[in-house]
Amino acid sequence: MWIRQSGVRTRAVILLAGVLLAGCSTLPQTPLDPKGPVAQMQTGLLLYTLYIAMGIGISVTAALLYVVFRFRARPGLTGVPVQIRGNHVLEIIWTVIPVLILVSVAFPTVEAAFSTAVPPEGAMTVRATGYRWWFAFEYPELGIVTANELRIPAGQPIRLELTSNDVIHSFWVPKLAGKTDMIPGRVNIAWIQADEPGVYLGQCAEFCGDSHANMRFQVRAMPPEQFDEWVRQRQAMAQGPSELSAVAARGRELFESNVGNCFACHAVDGTKAQGVVGPNLTDVGQRSTLAAGILENNYENLKAWVRNPADFKPGTTMPSHARLSEQDLDAIVQYLMSLK
Ligand code: CUA
Repeated sequence: MWIRQSGVRTRAVILLAGVLLAGCSTLPQTPLDPKGPVAQMQTGLLLYTLYIAMGIGISVTAALLYVVFRFRARPGLTGVPVQIRGNHVLEIIWTVIPVLILVSVAFPTVEAAFSTAVPPEGAMTVRATGYRWWFAFEYPELGIVTANELRIPAGQPIRLELTSNDVIHSFWVPKLAGKTDMIPGRVNIAWIQADEPGVYLGQCAEFCGDSHANMRFQVRAMPPEQFDEWVRQRQAMAQGPSELSAVAARGRELFESNVGNCFACHAVDGTKAQGVVGPNLTDVGQRSTLAAGILENNYENLKAWVRNPADFKPGTTMPSHARLSEQDLDAIVQYLMSLK
């Protein structure tokens, strides 16, 4: 309402601020703030094409305005203007100029398309699979499976094998690379690299049903030594959880029995739970988010999520556990929080 009441100048300022903010680095999911070689190449191409298009737009508009004013109807001017149909010089000019423009855009486009499609030598492979509505990340060379938080070493290229378990999803981390579709029955290859350690937010970018907007993930780029340390720690967790408190141990029993029935869908490495329908929970206690990036990972949120996931993610296949007692819920949540 206040926008309507304010003047044209205020609206222009708001619009301008919006345009400037679009390039601001504090926005977590802007492709205009590239943080790796793939994104840099793609953003460079985007801006190059944009500048050429703006140049064309401005020149054509300027030429049009000039003609409209210069040759406008004036009192006393009569008759038919000079006809230029069939003028060879003009026709050659307006054919050659667009061809040159298209060629100048085509070369860098083809170059970028090829270099973003082929990961560099020595890239580490990650298989990323889209599910409604979460992401599975598997490191075949390291024997690690995790979900929704993709840890990578900074400065190293990651070769992504992208596929889907159900419908078409799309893998998009705007600061690291453009979108690549995740298609069932097909593996698309892409690669990313984060030059600096940091958390880069990602998002499914293909409409995939009720909770498409709730299908998020993070790429957590770590200093290489820290990544190696995480790999060692994570591989050791394949032996199963150790030193559980009494309550957490009871939670594990519920998790692995027909009471909680969690094991039917979820895996915890080194335990009886080996379900593959839902996210692997081996390291769920060390993740910073829950439910594919939509909730902060803490005790209250985890409990509320387990009690009734559909409160947060409409359409989710994870069933309600409202039938469980508070005590049982607490035990399961204690168990999950201890998985780290
Ligand atoms: Cu998955 Cu949209």
